[in-house]
Amino acid sequence: MLFNQVNDIIAEIAQAAPQSPEALEQFRIRYLGSKNVIKALSAEIRNIPNEQKRDFGRLVNEAIQSAEAKFQALKTQLEAAAEESSAAALDLSAPGEPLVWGTRHPITITMNRIIRIFERIGFVIAEDREIEDDWHNFTALNTPEDHPARDMQDTYYLRGSDSLLLRTHTSSVQARLMAVQQPPIRIIAPGRVYRNETISARSHCQFHQVEGLYVDEGVSFADLKQTLLYFAKEMFGATQIRLRPSFFPFTEPSAEMDVYLGTDTEDNYRLTKGTGWLEILGCGMVDPKVLDNCGIDSEKYTGFAFGMGIERQAMRLFGINDIRLLFENDVRFLKQFGTVV
Ligand code: DAH
Repeated sequence: MLFNQVNDIIAEIAQAAPQSPEALEQFRIRYLGSKNVIKALSAEIRNIPNEQKRDFGRLVNEAIQSAEAKFQALKTQLEAAAEESSAAALDLSAPGEPLVWGTRHPITITMNRIIRIFERIGFVIAEDREIEDDWHNFTALNTPEDHPARDMQDTYYLRGSDSLLLRTHTSSVQARLMAVQQPPIRIIAPGRVYRNETISARSHCQFHQVEGLYVDEGVSFADLKQTLLYFAKEMFGATQIRLRPSFFPFTEPSAEMDVYLGTDTEDNYRLTKGTGWLEILGCGMVDPKVLDNCGIDSEKYTGFAFGMGIERQAMRLFGINDIRLLFENDVRFLKQFGTVV
């Protein structure tokens, strides 16, 4: 009786032909699972007369082995079938996914334009860290602690540190570079800067600057003027610039440069508040103290420096009226600008 039952199971296993992964799983549970039918029968061995126990054990083993062998064979078969059907479903003549070109960010486009203009006259790119220390961002640039000029820029200090900060201007790259390189130095330093400012359509707590620095023997204010005029012509098509006296701790004398855009177009009229002049950058002759702080002989060398914001220029170039759009990274906004090729 028990022998017959095991034999029936062996026959059942031989005939089983599950066609799906689900059916195969049912097979596994029934014959190989933790509460499988073979196990249940093998427990009955205690009711078998002693002289037959050995044969019964063998039969049970045969059942287990046939279940395992069948399971492996079925599994291999089903996997091969699945692979075949997915290959058959592959339509090699179907059109491909269209390749979507990325676009460059308007800030990058603007920054690259500025960089190219200065590269043409021998400036090289210098980049450095955004997390800066107090010395490179302020002290080296002639802005010691409790200098009122520190209030000009509301600084983000790193939590738990009174010397590490998010750089407030790319002028910090001047100090980084001069500390390791002797003149001639002619660099352009693009990058992101941070100030604790209220976010609105016109201002943001993060923005970009391009810094310029030229240090060599005999560099003069006339060189600065000529370099900036060249830039204004290339970048804005302007024919006139204006230098207004100003103050920066790291330059002496200091100036702010305006370019003349005129008032012919409505945009220019609005942008220049009817004056025709647009303020673009701060500049000046590097203060000898800054050179000395950075280990450059101020008796021998002179230099000029300038720094400009990128966002306003990008907004003007692309007709963007809200600075926040530049930092939201909304793809619908970004894809309107230069395709990367
Ligand atoms: N660092 C100044 C700012 O963020 C800009 C600047 C002014 C940079 C004059 C210069 C400079 O190199 O000479 O407002």
